[in-house]
Amino acid sequence: MAAPRRNIELKASDPDPERSLAVVLGLGARDRGLLRQRDTYFRVTTGRLKLREEEPGGAMLIQYDRVDADEARESRYRLVPVDDPRTLCAALEASLGTLAVVEKERHLLLWQNVRIHLDRVKDLGNFVELEGVATADSDLADELERVTRLTEALEIAPERILRNSYSDQVVGSTALVEAARAVMERAHAPYSRFRVGAALRAEDGSIHVGANVENAAYPQGQCAEASAIGALIASGCKRITEVAVISDGVDYCVPCGGCRQRLREFIVPGAEIHLCASTGARQTTSLEALLPRSFGPEFLPQ
Ligand code: THU
Repeated sequence: MAAPRRNIELKASDPDPERSLAVVLGLGARDRGLLRQRDTYFRVTTGRLKLREEEPGGAMLIQYDRVDADEARESRYRLVPVDDPRTLCAALEASLGTLAVVEKERHLLLWQNVRIHLDRVKDLGNFVELEGVATADSDLADELERVTRLTEALEIAPERILRNSYSDQVVGSTALVEAARAVMERAHAPYSRFRVGAALRAEDGSIHVGANVENAAYPQGQCAEASAIGALIASGCKRITEVAVISDGVDYCVPCGGCRQRLREFIVPGAEIHLCASTGARQTTSLEALLPRSFGPEFLPQ
């Protein structure tokens, strides 16, 4: 069996792709031009499997495995050239099911064996990806050093680094928002007529939902976030890693002050909170932004 290839990888959001391009060209990176890529991710039990269709270029099946981490990390992968991508896609879709389709425009540059990708990903935004491609017998130290040098030159702050793949971003946040929207439909809000749905992702990736539940004795009503937190805790989970909140209204739905504090109890630092409008628009923020200098369990005596 062919051994997997290895590289050191880092992916980060890119607020200023033009600047990134200027920086890497300034370092002497070679410009390999623009590529259009369509990646179809299939549902698999281990690692990731995607069919990449590329223009100019061809198609290949890519199998890979990597640890989700917020720093440069090793990835092991296999590339299989594909002659008939449409039929292969249909076969894999029929047998495994499709997880997500990610389309992007990639500006490819090469610097000292590091592939630099300036990606514009449909529905997700702009990203920079660094891949230090390893030789077969490498201990990966050189690759890591080069990726680190580029990370510094590009001034990539830790909070910009992505822990997972583009497919997780698409599947993850879209699935969460859809779960919030679905539970919102089941809210009990006859008094305010303002239905709210909340979906929380827990540390194991599972999604927990809740809607607002009003009461004729008004103060007994419960917010959607409180309902969802109850469901997450009841399932045995302990942490919140991502949040989506949505309402009937045209505006972005924001958690009330009380719910910001409720979320504060369980949320992990830097977790994304998606504020959604019924129109489909959303804004992503964090608890640190919604509730600065907040009080938490660490303030209490041990
Ligand atoms: N509501 C929520 O469910 N979550 C919030 O963060 C804001 C408010 C609900 C409570 C009530 O049922 C309705 O919206 C109007 O206040």
